[in-house]
Parts: sequence; structure tokens; C-alpha cells
Amino acid sequence: MAGGSAPSEGARIWDGPTRVFHWALVVLLLVSWLTAGENMQVHRWSGYGVIGLLVFRLWWGVAGGSTARFASFLKGPKATLAYARTLGSRTLNGAPGHNPLGAWSVMAMLAALLVQVGLGLFASDIDGLESGPLSHLVDFDASRVAAELHETTFRVVQGLVVLHLAAIGYYWLWKRQNLIGAMLTGKQRLATEALRPASMVRLLIGVVLAVAVAWFIAKGARL
Ligand code: HEM
Ligand code: HEM
Repeated sequence: MAGGSAPSEGARIWDGPTRVFHWALVVLLLVSWLTAGENMQVHRWSGYGVIGLLVFRLWWGVAGGSTARFASFLKGPKATLAYARTLGSRTLNGAPGHNPLGAWSVMAMLAALLVQVGLGLFASDIDGLESGPLSHLVDFDASRVAAELHETTFRVVQGLVVLHLAAIGYYWLWKRQNLIGAMLTGKQRLATEALRPASMVRLLIGVVLAVAVAWFIAKGARL
């Protein structure tokens, strides 16, 4: 345990990169929202930031710390339903990481965001003055369809975020479990075991991969 911390502080369940990913995503999504249709230069740049974060998260989902790995938290319908049936009880879940139901909401958010940024890349506004860096690959009508869908997908993202916040509120009020503190400090007081962290080299590979992909896309995917 890091720094010989007292047991009451709990075990570390989220690694640093997962927490930085989360809070950076919250900030950049807010920026993307506030600048949409207002300041398109900033809108595109915050969007590239979100792309970098998503690329990093996909890498971290296979190469990151144990609780960040998709294989560690994605469960089949049977286990997910079994967990859903325990939602009403006030018994706390001491297993580190996402619960089986939360895991699917995480995947839904990541998938919706991938579609969101993907469509933005091909979108153009009505007079073709503002566009995504890949809009040159499709005709104007297609880029307008991408823009419409880009706006619609944002409603889906918003819906999922509201559900996300409602779930966190439910855990706080009903189960008296502070999930936010754990996403901030990495530690969960009730956790039964700590995560197994990933190496620095893997972190570095993820960062380089994220920056390279976001940069390449921002430049219009031209070699
Ligand atoms: C997760 C990040 C993003 C969010 C939440 C988001 C959200 C939005 C929203 C709500 C609009 C509609 C604005 C309006 O017309 O009132 C919009 C428009 C637009 N977005 Fe994004 N966007 C994101 C990422 C991107 C990215 C990565 C690009 C491309 C680099 C992009 C390019 C555009 C373009 C070109 C429009 C104008 C479309 C039009 O006026 O019909 N967006 N975005
Ligand atoms: C833009 C809005 C947000 C988005 C898109 C978002 C997305 C996500 C994602 C993708 C994860 C999974 C983390 C991972 O495994 O990488 C997550 C987890 C989490 N988020 Fe958010 N989040 C948002 C806002 C917030 C806010 C405002 C809070 C706090 C009030 C919050 C608290 C948490 C917590 C506590 C977890 C861990 C849940 C657990 O214990 O399973 N999120 N969020």
C-alpha cells in the first residue's frame, strides 16, 4: 500500500491515468458543449482533446491498471441482472472497480462519445464555413447529415450523463457510498482489495498513441 497509509483510508481502486482521463473528459465535454455553434475553433480543439482521451481510454482498457481493463469489469447478462436485483438493498459492494451495471453505462458513454466525435469530424455547418477536418472526404450533403446526427448524438450523450449522475446520487443517498471521493483520490474506504497498477511504459505508449491519433485527425488525416 502506498506510503503506508492507514487502513481507514481504504485501498486504491482507480489509478492516476483513469482519474485524469475522467476529469479531463468532464472539462473538455463542457468546453465542447459551450463552444458549439459559438466558437468553432475552440470547439474543434476541445473535440480533438476528447478524441485523444478516448483513444487513451481504449488503450488503457486493454493495457491499463486492473480496474480500468474492460475484461475485468464487463460481465454477461446473467451477472449484470443478478447485480441489478441487488440494487434495492443497502448492502455495499466491496469489490474494487465498476459494478456490472455501471460497467455497461461506462461502455455506453464511451461508445456514444466515439460516435459523437466521429460525426463531428465529417460535419459542415449550413453555409459550409465551419467544418470538421475530414469533411473534405465526403460531399456537402453527407457532411450536413453528419452535422444533424452530430447534434442528435449529443442529446444521447447528455441523457447518458444525466443517468450517470443519477446513479452516483443514488449510491450516495441510498447506499451511503461516496463514489466521487474515490474518483478524486483513487481510494475507496470499503474496498476489499487494491488495483494492480500498469507500468509507466504502458502509460507512455498510451499518451503517445492518443496524441498521435488526435494530431493526425486534426490535420485532416493527410500523410
Ligand atoms: C464530444 C465532443 C463534442 C460535442 C459535445 C459537440 C457538440 C456539438 C453540438 C451540440 C453542435 C450543434 C451546435 C449548433 O448548431 O447549435 C455541434 C456542432 C458542430 N460540431 Fe461538434 N461536438 C463535439 C466534437 C466535435 C468535433 C471533434 C468536431 C470536429 C473537429 C466537431 C465539429 C462540429 C461542427 C463542424 C459543427 C457545426 C455543425 C452545424 O452548424 O450544423 N464537433 N457540436
Ligand atoms: C461530462 C460528464 C461526464 C462524463 C462523460 C463521465 C464519464 C464517465 C466515464 C466514462 C466513467 C468511467 C471511468 C473509467 O473507467 O474510465 C465515469 C466514472 C465515474 N464518474 Fe463520470 N462522467 C461525467 C461526469 C461526472 C461527474 C460530474 C461526476 C461527479 C459528480 C462523475 C463521477 C464519476 C464517478 C464517481 C465514477 C466512478 C463510478 C464507479 O465507481 O463505478 N462523473 N464517468
